[in-house]
Amino acid sequence: MRNLILTWTFLFILHLTKEDTSVQKLSAPEKHFLVLMCSDASHVDWSHGLERVIASRRGKQVSYLDQSKHQLLEDGHLSIKDLQESDAGEYYCNRQLVADITVLKGHNFTVPEGTTVYLPCKTSDKMKQRWAFKRTLQSRKEFISTLYKNSTVKKERADPTLRFTHTIDHLTISNLQLQDSGLYLCNNREMAFLTVTTESTEIENSSPDINKYLTVAVLLALCILVMVCVGLLFVTIDWKSRRRRNIRKETEPADIASGLQLQRMSNEGPWMLDTHEDAVSFFLHQSTAKDACSI
Ligand SMILES: *[C@@H]1O[C@H](CO)[C@@H](O)[C@H](O)[C@H]1NC(C)=O
Ligand SMILES: *[C@@H]1O[C@H](CO)[C@@H](O)[C@H](O)[C@H]1NC(C)=O
Repeated sequence: MRNLILTWTFLFILHLTKEDTSVQKLSAPEKHFLVLMCSDASHVDWSHGLERVIASRRGKQVSYLDQSKHQLLEDGHLSIKDLQESDAGEYYCNRQLVADITVLKGHNFTVPEGTTVYLPCKTSDKMKQRWAFKRTLQSRKEFISTLYKNSTVKKERADPTLRFTHTIDHLTISNLQLQDSGLYLCNNREMAFLTVTTESTEIENSSPDINKYLTVAVLLALCILVMVCVGLLFVTIDWKSRRRRNIRKETEPADIASGLQLQRMSNEGPWMLDTHEDAVSFFLHQSTAKDACSI
């Protein structure tokens, strides 16, 4: 019983800590690169999957599984170069899931709603990068933003929630929406045709709900357990005081017989008991109720 309570408490805490971590779902094209963030800087272990450690830092000492692929940056961030199919999957920093990477191929990308996509601009123009969008091939072109040589970015389209980030390396679209589907052009060259799908968000939306129900269920179970324990504690105290009263009575000769009778009945079994008082005493002799409350 005590183990059960401990297990529940442990699962509950585990569940709470799990909810705090935010896993980034990123898609980037083949041959491009990505930088993943990690908060801890002095002592870092990056792994691809839980077991395959790819980069570690212990103070000044840094080690890599494949240095041509991975690089640890100043603040514990990890850079992954020349993305290949084999680089897809989950990345953990200090055993905490940080990112889930999808490597995109070709120019027609299908990406789930709510995730983040990286679109590189392949241009020879050293003066500026100008991203544009077309909902369909026939649609009118809408300019998204321009990045000048002096690093200034001029936004050319409303972006109230700052989902579009334009850097020298790529255009990043976070929290992808269905209406982001369409053709993306950089300096008038077609870079990618994006199709945003809803499939993965259904799973994402349903799991927090399940988590919420689980939290409520665990809390309810704990409340009930506490109530049961407190109830049993009262019964125990009550029974002890009654027994003390009985022992006191036993010193009077008239009651010796009934005291012995009670003891005998308790040993024989529940079907022999007829009064409520005796039932309680039998229950407490046999059950683990006291153990349950002695945490
Ligand atoms: C990519 O998508 C566009 C628009 O849907 C389509 O016209 C084109 O044929 C597709 N290309 C490939 C290689 O699938
Ligand atoms: C950067 O260059 C652009 C275009 O040449 C200009 O409009 C802008 O004012 C410049 N910004 C800065 C900070 O110099």
